Amino acid sequence: MNIKVIGNYVGRFGELWEQSLTDLIKEGVAGVLADAQIKPESVDAIFVANKASGSFNQQRHLGALVSEQFGHFPPAMRIEGACASGGLAILAAQQALLSGTYKTVLVLGVEKMTDVSSSETAAILATAASREKEYGSTFPALYAMLANYHMNRYGTTREQLSSVVVKNHLHAFDNSKAQFHKKFTVEEVSNSVLVSSPLRLLDCSPISDGVAAVILSSKASSRKTSILGFGHGQDTLALADRQDLGSLIATQKAAKQAFNRSSLSQKDIQAAEVHDCFSIAEILAAEDLGFFAKGQAATAIASGQATYGGQLVINPSGGLKACGHPVGATGVKQIAFLSSLIEAGKFDVALAHNVGGSGATAVVNILGKS
Ligand code: COA
Repeated sequence: MNIKVIGNYVGRFGELWEQSLTDLIKEGVAGVLADAQIKPESVDAIFVANKASGSFNQQRHLGALVSEQFGHFPPAMRIEGACASGGLAILAAQQALLSGTYKTVLVLGVEKMTDVSSSETAAILATAASREKEYGSTFPALYAMLANYHMNRYGTTREQLSSVVVKNHLHAFDNSKAQFHKKFTVEEVSNSVLVSSPLRLLDCSPISDGVAAVILSSKASSRKTSILGFGHGQDTLALADRQDLGSLIATQKAAKQAFNRSSLSQKDIQAAEVHDCFSIAEILAAEDLGFFAKGQAATAIASGQATYGGQLVINPSGGLKACGHPVGATGVKQIAFLSSLIEAGKFDVALAHNVGGSGATAVVNILGKS
């Protein structure tokens, strides 16, 4: 593979009531072109990641909306895979480059979720679960089932779930674009309002607006970040059809492919942006990606192994939990944020892990200094 991240941009995440969906798109395009220092006409094609603008904003056809920001109207398409839309758009862009069809492509992830009420948002997000087998459930409820299973099987505790949240909110202080810059204690997380037992308000990623963009290129470049390996795993849509609720098999499959393609192993990874849509999701990810043995990630994270000075830094951006989770933007933000850290010399090798639904889709990318 010889694909470089030649531009990255992450806009501020949060309740961005002063910006429309189109404003966010314009910001992402201008920001990433400025970072890449290339002319707009150098972009051969566009991949847009978005989960549900048709429901949140009554606007579909986002490929065309992004393409018209360019005078030469590059070919554009939207990719949807629930909260993994961003990771899938990155994969689609890579395939286009690897096939030789294009040399330089834009991947832009965007979601504007706060124009509707929280209950409408929960219902729109729930369309990523199985309509036939999980009707009426919300994502906090589905992940609560995974949390209860993990707690019963591996002895994961309430305090260990909270320690994931405490860490990620601390990391977010290093990320000026994060939705929350607020420190919490284990007790505050453990005593926050109950959403779906055992998950509480502070276990949940928030509802967010935001845009992120990268420009990927197969041309020679002085930029330092390359994509070293990618993987893509799938599992059943409904939790009831899974063989094991203690693991996300799609993550394991995607990780195996990415490590094989990069010829790297878990011990090479210095930082990872993982899909912590709920506190339990980071614990599952840390195990299924192979950073810690099954049943041991919660203890490892609580004892400081997933922050600076530990085995690796998990979610240096603050993760979905504290940076925010504008669902279609998240997978692109992970790549943009990690490549900015590699460009800045903070890490040499990093991993991005993006999940759709309750683990039906997973994408893993490994980035490295080149
Ligand atoms: N983390 C930290 N703080 C949060 C938060 C979160 N996830 N969600 C809300 N807050 C804060 C708000 O900033 C607000 O603080 P303030 O009173 O100081 O202004 C307060 O908590 C209440 O916020 P509100 O907007 O009323 O919350 P809500 O009840 O509408 O929504 C959740 C809270 C947890 C239900 C909502 O964020 C949610 O559904 N999250 C999950 C999203 C999801 O499923 N994503 C897909 C994952 S697969």
